[in-house]
Formats: sequence, C-alpha cells, structure tokens
Amino acid sequence: MYRLQNIDTKTFLNEYWQKKPLLIRQGFIDFEDPIDEHELAGLTEEQGVDSRIVSYQSGAWEVAHGPYENINDHCLGKWSLLVQSVDHYLPDADSLMNTFNFIPVWRMDDLMVSYSNTGAGVGPHLDQYDVFIIQGKGTRRWQVGLPDQYEAVRPHCDLSQITGFFPVIDEVLNPGDIIYIPANHPHNGVALEPCMNYSVGFRAPSQQEMLSSFADYAIDNNLLSKRFKDRALSPRKFSGEIKQQEVAQFKALLAETLQGEAFEKWLPIFLSDNKKSEDGLNQQIEEFSVQAIIDMLNDGECFYPSPGVKPIFVEPSANQAENTFVFYINGESYSAPIQSANVIKQLLSQASICEDNGTIKLSKDQEVCTLLTTLVNKGHWYIE
Ligand code: SIN
Ligand code: CO
Repeated sequence: MYRLQNIDTKTFLNEYWQKKPLLIRQGFIDFEDPIDEHELAGLTEEQGVDSRIVSYQSGAWEVAHGPYENINDHCLGKWSLLVQSVDHYLPDADSLMNTFNFIPVWRMDDLMVSYSNTGAGVGPHLDQYDVFIIQGKGTRRWQVGLPDQYEAVRPHCDLSQITGFFPVIDEVLNPGDIIYIPANHPHNGVALEPCMNYSVGFRAPSQQEMLSSFADYAIDNNLLSKRFKDRALSPRKFSGEIKQQEVAQFKALLAETLQGEAFEKWLPIFLSDNKKSEDGLNQQIEEFSVQAIIDMLNDGECFYPSPGVKPIFVEPSANQAENTFVFYINGESYSAPIQSANVIKQLLSQASICEDNGTIKLSKDQEVCTLLTTLVNKGHWYIE
C-alpha cells in the first residue's frame, strides 16, 4: 500500500544514516494517513496503550498520560496527542513503518503517531534515537540542528527540552514529505495547521541495557557458572592488594561470557523482544489444528502477519553446519529443519502467506504447515 520514493537507500545509508539530517520531499506521493485523530484518540482508551498529551497554555507546559477519563480536559491551548507503538495496533500503520525496512527490522522500535493543533509542538529537544518523521495531513515547520553542548531544561517533570539551537534545516513539510533526524540532533516541529505526524523510531540498546538483559538471561538459564581460580597464587607484601595480573584475570573471566554460546543464544532473543505487541488490544486467538490450516490453504485462504510482528534470524556462521533453522519473534524462538530455511525466510518476509507461493504448493509441505499452525495459534499470523 505504501511505497517509499525519492530516496536512494544506498546513498542514504552511506551519506546520511547516523551522520546528517535529511529532508525527503514527497517520500510518499499522494500520501494517505493510515489513521485519523479520532481513531488515534480512540486508541488511548485501551489498556496498555502508551499515550501522552503535551500542551502549552499561558506560559505553562503540561503533560498528561493516557488512558484519560475525559481526553478533552487535557486538550488545552496548543496541544499534541502522541501515541506510541501504533504499528502494533493497526495493519496500515505497520505497512507504513515497514517501508523503512532497508534498515534491519531489529533496529526498529515503533511507530509513534501524533496529532497537533495549530501552533503546537513538544518544544526544541534531543532524542537519543534516530527517527524518520513523516508528515501526514496538514503542514508543520521543522527545524533541525547539529549535535553540540545544549542547555537542558525541564519545563515539566515529564518534558525534556533544550533552550535553542541553530537550524541547518528549516522547512515546512507537506503531506508525504519526510524528515530524517539522526540521534542527538536538536529539532523542533511546530504545526502550522492541525496536522498528523508519523515517527519511525529506532532502537539503539545501551551497554547498560544489554548487560542487564544478558545477565538476566544467563541467570534464568544457569549458563554462567564458571568461577575465579588462582592456582598460581603468589605471596604479596600487602594482603589487601589486588595484583594487576589478577585484575586481568577477572576481566578475562567476565569477557569470556561474551565470547561463548550464551551470548549467541541471548542476542536474537534480546533483539526480537518486543513485548508491546502482547499488551494492548488483546484479541481472542482461536486454536487451529495443522489439518485445519492445510484445509484453509486449499480453500484459498491467506494468512497475514499481525501488526508489529517482525521476525528476525541470525546469519549462519561460516564454520558451523546447522541442522535447524531458528528464527525469533517477541523474544521466543521457532525452529524448522534446515531444508525448509529458504522457504520459511521467504514466507516470513511476505505480506501474506497463501497456497500458491510461486513454484511450491504450501499445503504439501507438512513442516511448513506445522510451523504456520504454531504461528497462527500464537496470534503472530491471522486469517482475515
Ligand atoms: C511529534 O510531535 O510528532 C514528534 C515529536 C518529536 O520531535 O520527537
Ligand atoms: Co523528537
């Protein structure tokens, strides 16, 4: 449905990604909003949906978090309603986000959708993540600057802004225009009329997040039980002294944890973990048998990935012959015989899975049908 245009992705990755901001005029020609402000407000009523209204009135900033008892009570002065992870709730929003999959999906975080009235914005600020902001209906003036030491201000405890910056981009965006803002580049968007914006945000895990998640995984699975040893212990003048050689030994023991199998097992689980799709908008999932799935394929039914589902897998290592193909969704692994790997990789990246997939008839492949049944019963793929 959405087609990204007027951008050469190879040039973009070489010259702009994580380096320079870029304005892409008409990245989406004849852009149609996947959602309107009323549907966006409706989403905030659901439990588990992360939303906020940032407003500015009579010199004061306010931030109110959803769900709201009466949303209109917070839409005061100049205001923006911002809703996170809309790609998990709406197939069209997910399709819009997926047009950016020239960047690996495990780098993607979510699609944040905002609606702002005239004059509104969240103020000049920095984000720690790269973002593409798509202009939906209406127009908005975007200013983007370069990284520097900016003075941080907190006009509200939930709002982090900076005092000002020199813009290297200062443009009015029209529907279908896109602005790319690398991490830590100051920016400010002010709505010139009521408008919608779609922010494709990326994740860049910090060492702290990774170490904490890796330690949890290793502890849960009892993977790192090796202990410090010092059979070559030597006498020393001060009993409290730690020798440099011992510092190095401790470092090596800890570094070893990252070289081993535990790290390889943890990384794709960590990178695929997106629990957001399991909260909010919970739907009843029907259980199917493998035979029922085969019958449906034969009857011409197609299966569609649920919004927000982004399977990932690790490139096979050159020196290890694998006999299973493993992929990950939301921190869980799924496996199939290695012979089915190519078919499965193809199916996982398709907008729909139907009986006729080029040369193969899916219903004849028992392994693939069993896997599809698991994915449907998990709610990761659905029948329309
Ligand atoms: C928005 O208001 O839609 C985006 C806010 C931002 O600059 O991150
Ligand atoms: Co921002």
